[in-house]
Amino acid sequence: MGLSLLAYLILGITGSVLFVQRNSGQPRVSWLQPLHQITGWVMVSLVLLLLVIGIVGTLGHYGSLGHSGHLVAGFSAVALVLLSAGSSTQISKQSWVRSIHIGTNIALLLGFTWVSFSGWQVVQKYLP
Ligand code: HEM
Ligand code: HEM
Repeated sequence: MGLSLLAYLILGITGSVLFVQRNSGQPRVSWLQPLHQITGWVMVSLVLLLLVIGIVGTLGHYGSLGHSGHLVAGFSAVALVLLSAGSSTQISKQSWVRSIHIGTNIALLLGFTWVSFSGWQVVQKYLP
């Protein structure tokens, strides 16, 4: 999760720099866009990995899912990440998709906060 948040932070910074450069008409630093994109797909992999670990671990422990709001939080975060990554592939073709990309990423901040908070709450159950 720490790595996902780090990836999110890098994406936020590189995305903002791309945004400023585009709006001020400055030439782009050539490596910035690939860095943003690669970090993006790394974050997608990390979040999917956490989803699989969460589901497999919970099934192994209880034999069923849905013991807390963490399940809904987890799926919301994954859905937003996939929406963000999916929309990013269309930005070069239709520019209005950019606002969807940026919007989902702001929502993702809330999604990550929620999944971390609810994840921390379920961890408390296992502590003595
Ligand atoms: C989910 C993984 C992600 C992928 C695959 C991805 C990919 C992309 C791509 C391909 C673009 C278009 C760049 C261009 O205009 O040439 C873009 C733009 C942008 N991304 Fe992401 N991104 C991801 C996540 C994020 C996140 C988490 C944030 C913010 C926290 C973010 C912020 C931005 C911003 C602000 C832009 C606009 C840049 C501009 O206006 O030119 N992205 N992203
Ligand atoms: C994007 C990040 C994450 C995703 C997608 C995710 C997803 C999931 C899912 C789907 C479950 C099964 C929940 C259920 O059926 O009730 C689960 C379980 C669990 N997750 Fe996560 N999780 C994430 C992050 C975290 C974090 C940051 C923590 C700890 C701080 C955490 C701790 C746990 C624990 C302890 C369980 C066992 C649930 C229980 O005993 O009720 N998860 N996770």
